[in-house]
Order: sequence, then C-alpha cells, then structure tokens
Amino acid sequence: MDAPHTNSLSGLDLLASAVILLDGSGCIRHVNPAAEHMLDSSLKGLQQHKLWSLFVNGEQLETVFNQAMAQEFSELRLDLTLERAGRESLQVDCLVSVLDNRATPVLFELRENVQQLKLNREERLFDQSQANKELIRNLAHEIKNPLGGIRGAAQLLEMELPERHLRELREYTQVIIREAGRLQTLVDRLLAPHRRPHIVGDVNIHEVCERVRSLIVAEFPDGLTIRRDYDLSIPEFRGDKEQLIQAVLNIAHNAAEALTDRIANGDAELTFKTRVSRQVTLAKIRYRLALDLHIIDNGPGIPPEISERIFYPLVSGRDGGSGLGLTLAQTFIQQHLGVIECESRPGHTDFRIRIPLP
Ligand SMILES: Nc1ncnc2c1ncn2[C@@H]1O[C@H](COP(=O)(O)OP(=O)(O)O)[C@@H](O)[C@H]1O
Ligand SMILES: [Mg+2]
Repeated sequence: MDAPHTNSLSGLDLLASAVILLDGSGCIRHVNPAAEHMLDSSLKGLQQHKLWSLFVNGEQLETVFNQAMAQEFSELRLDLTLERAGRESLQVDCLVSVLDNRATPVLFELRENVQQLKLNREERLFDQSQANKELIRNLAHEIKNPLGGIRGAAQLLEMELPERHLRELREYTQVIIREAGRLQTLVDRLLAPHRRPHIVGDVNIHEVCERVRSLIVAEFPDGLTIRRDYDLSIPEFRGDKEQLIQAVLNIAHNAAEALTDRIANGDAELTFKTRVSRQVTLAKIRYRLALDLHIIDNGPGIPPEISERIFYPLVSGRDGGSGLGLTLAQTFIQQHLGVIECESRPGHTDFRIRIPLP
C-alpha cells in the first residue's frame, strides 16, 4: 500500500471497533489495530488475503462483498457468527459500507457483540447443568440398587461367621455394612432434590429471609452482624416456602462458615438485600419483573480452584463438606424458574438468587 494512502487512514487506528478495507477483488488492503487484535494477526499477515478466507463459514461475507461491489446497498448491518479453524468463534455486529474510493471500495467494521457472548455462555451453562443433573440422577439410581444387595449380603455373611473367628472377621463385614450405609445416604441425598416443589401458597421473600436470619443467629450468636436491606414493595409470588428457606439457609450457612476468622475477630458481616429487576432473562426466558435476593458476606471469598464448579454436587472447599448445599439450593431455585449467580472476591462474596415475579 502506498504511503499517502496509509496516512489518510491513520484516523482509523484510533477506533475501538475493527475496521477492514478491501480492494475490488475482496483482498484486505488495510486493517486498524483493533482489527489486528480481533483477527489475531498483523496487517502484514492479513494483507492480500481475501477477508472471507479467514473464516470457515466466510461465504456470507463474500456474498455481501459482491452485493457491495454491485452497489446493491451503500450500507448494511449484519449480526454474524464467524467460525475460525481451531479457535473461538467471533460473535460480531458487522457494518458494511461502500466507499467512494477506487483502491478500497468496501469497508467492513466489526464490533464484538459482548451481550450475545454473555447470553450464549449463560445458555451453555444452563444446558450443561441440565445435562449434569440428568447424569447424576441416572448414576445415583444405578448405584442405589446394588447397594441394598451388598449391604444385605454382608449382614447375612456376618450371621454365618464361625464363632471362633467372629471377632476379627466381624470388623470386615462391619466396614462393608457401614460404608454401604454411608453411600446409601449420599445417593438418597443426590436423588432427593428432584421431588416436585409443594406450591401451596404465596411466599413473602422477607419472611423467608427472617426465618433464615433467626436460624443463623441461633447458631452464630456472637461476632456476626447481620444486616437487612429490604425493598418492602416486592410482591409475593407462588412458591414452596420450605424449599426457599432451605435454599437461602444453605447459602447463608456457607457464608457464616466462610466467616469463621472474622467471627472470632468480631467483624463478620452478613447482608440480606432484596431488590426488583426489570426485563430479566432467566434460564432462557424473558420476564418483566424479577426478584433479586443478595446474600453478601465479607469473608475470604470462594477458593479460585473451585469457583467455576461450586454448584456441582460433591464439590466442597471444606474438610468434611458434603458439597451438596449449593447443588440443592440451585435445584430448589430452578424449580421456581429462577437461578443463583455468584460473584466473589476476597472480602466480598455475593450470591444472588433471582426468581421471576408475577
Ligand atoms: N460465601 C462463601 N464464601 C466462601 N466460600 C464459599 C461460600 N459459599 C460457598 N463456598 C465454597 O463452596 C463450597 C461448596 O459449598 P456447598 O455446596 O454448600 O458444600 P459444602 O458446604 O458442603 O462444602 C464450600 O465448601 C466453600 O468452599
Ligand atoms: Mg454448604
């Protein structure tokens, strides 16, 4: 590209969106730094390549380019998902403009569509959690049936043990019986949350919070300050009050446990905060109104190595933890068509329960 031409384009370098200039054959003649960044390549590496050759599904770009060359439009806006071999696909808003310029008659402006990206991630997580639940349920059933048999057989075996070896051998059968029993309890707990909610009436979320508060106060009477920041205009909604109490309690209980050091110091804080949100998408469905209940603590935060997996069963950051508290809580909230989200950094962990409101 000749020097004067490049200079006249230098203003493009300051743009945050990716700008790509094509010549009459669709070859890249100029890209700004944002485009180099987005396409993960330098101007040198991109020049002389046809724009659409960079993507697995570039045909649409070629079609649009041909339409631009035929002057079928002067400006066109598109939403595109550009697939790249071996790399994350690009979710972009694309603006195609026909320029009055012989050397570079067509301009593509690409802007990464973060909103779309976020939505996709949430949808993916939701699908994943549905698939996980299915897997766990099936697995739990498969384990449950033979467990009963193992335990029963060990009990029969114990009765048949010869008198003279009873003492030593009984230790072994006891291990089998005890461990089978422990697994049985675990499996029962994995299967339990899948009962349907008992929706018997309207729930007032602040009654739920107050119940949980009194339970936490009873267990942690000293060193823990509980704050309440309620929006009392929040309407009641149909729900299973017992399930909601259990869900909120599991989250608040984790918070109180994470606050052990601060409780000893006397500066532990747990906050229940309620708000209303408008136009919310929960589990892929859009609602006009939703309840946001935040349960916030000033503890050390979620250990980074498990932060992506805390809602999975059996994931625990504590010795002796079952790793089922958040799984249960998430299941109960999903049965109310809601979700639990979490944001955590040292000193501030915020679990947000979101439930659609009428
Ligand atoms: N408020 C919190 N602060 C720090 N870590 C937390 C918090 N809530 C949950 N966690 C982490 O998530 C893990 C999983 O929680 P949970 O599913 O209730 O299982 P459990 O409490 O049996 O370990 C906890 O062990 C803990 O490491
Ligand atoms: Mg817990």
